Amino acid sequence: MKVLTTIADVRTTLHAERAAGRSVGFVPTMGALHDGHKSLLLASVADNDVTIASVFVNPLQFAPDEDLAAYPRDLDADVALATSAGADYVFAPSVDEMYPEPIETTVSVSGVSEPLDGQSRPTHFAGVATVVTKLFSIIGPCSAYFGEKDFQQLAVIRKMSLDLSLDVSVVGCVTHREPDGLAMSSRNRYLTDEERSESVVLSQALDMAVEAIEAGQTDPAVVRRLMVDHLATSTLGTLDYAEVVDARTLRTPERLRGEIRCLVALQFGKARLIDNKGATAAN
Ligand code: PAJ
Repeated sequence: MKVLTTIADVRTTLHAERAAGRSVGFVPTMGALHDGHKSLLLASVADNDVTIASVFVNPLQFAPDEDLAAYPRDLDADVALATSAGADYVFAPSVDEMYPEPIETTVSVSGVSEPLDGQSRPTHFAGVATVVTKLFSIIGPCSAYFGEKDFQQLAVIRKMSLDLSLDVSVVGCVTHREPDGLAMSSRNRYLTDEERSESVVLSQALDMAVEAIEAGQTDPAVVRRLMVDHLATSTLGTLDYAEVVDARTLRTPERLRGEIRCLVALQFGKARLIDNKGATAAN
């Protein structure tokens, strides 16, 4: 395992790997790595000759009132986890290395960025799209692994890669969960014990929605109500959104048909938790 901190070192290293005929897998992260990130690393290691993870807490994707300063950082632990998954390189640049000057160029994706998290966090996805474009440019041709945990982010990155003909194959990976169903997240460590025990309502609400859709419910308002009512059983969580959307457009259709995604966001004290699950509606 080698830790690289400069863009120039990443380019030289990966150029040599590709010249030797080796395929590159890339797992972008903000660190505080957990088993969810590890599942992406394992998928990359299985599919590619060489795997590189990036660890960079990207200031561009945090609004001024969000948790940039508090976001957990522990590079040694991240390198240990990446090593245990069989990764070859960690790219851990400083903010100055990534943004030597105030940025004047941004990538923004309309359409899929707009609903859901785009409503609650209006500058977030442009920050994500910009840093991921930059990372793709630094890493070069690769397969890049993203979690369905951030389903809208995955949709934004797929659309951006298609629209801009980026030389990257985007791979989506299933959400890794705690035994009680809570989706693993770096932000779960902000939860108090009481919040942690109530946080199970997110995955439970999603299970209820999926079950209703697969049992033939085609009215999105009815499915949404099931989720909202269940989320309301948590006294500590405040609802941000609960939506039932077409998995491709991320918009709520009049009637549910084909591939559907149910998504929820709940604020627990300092932690904003998001989760989602897919269902296939009868046509
Ligand atoms: P971060 O939140 O660190 O997540 C890095 C990757 O891990 C994302 O693709 C995310 O969807 C995935 N991931 C997180 N929790 C997961 C889980 N429980 N199961 C499976 N995958 C999971 O997402 C970001 O960082 C940033 O926005 C980034 C893309 C790195 C750009 O800064």
